[in-house]
Amino acid sequence: MKILVLHGVNLNLLGQREKAIYGQATLDDINSGLRELAGQLGVELECRQSNHEGQLVDWLQQAPGQYAAVVFNPGAYTHYSIALRDAIAAIAIPVIEVHLSNIYAREDFRHRSVLAPVAAGQISGMGVLSYRLGLLAAVELVRGGRNDGEEKCITAD
Ligand code: DQA
Repeated sequence: MKILVLHGVNLNLLGQREKAIYGQATLDDINSGLRELAGQLGVELECRQSNHEGQLVDWLQQAPGQYAAVVFNPGAYTHYSIALRDAIAAIAIPVIEVHLSNIYAREDFRHRSVLAPVAAGQISGMGVLSYRLGLLAAVELVRGGRNDGEEKCITAD
């Protein structure tokens, strides 16, 4: 199984950019941690970053057939890119939206993701762990489905 990790706009600046919000880890740090996790999970990983919406659309369109799922941090495109939303809606493989910061605890304009309704799910606010959980979710979704309402769900008691 091959999983594609896509990092969108401005995420090449991680480690230098607003560290109080996004942390110290660079994109290379994140990608190498994900590669290690992928090895433990027995899956192959490809990591790419672009600041260009059209490039991200091209990679999403090309993903089916090559990759089983996509873990995607779109950066600011999250909040307004109908082109990325349409690309996600157009492909049959699951796309898991991830964010380092908790977008719901920040400025109002970040509270809305135009992508979330067409994503398989969203993980927000866990720092680098958001990506790791995103990768786990991608692998579990592809291997075993969603398990909705089944005994594996964690309950309050
Ligand atoms: C982000 C959140 C976005 O609102 C922001 O524009 C980013 C990063 C995150 O990972 O927390 O660039 O996607």
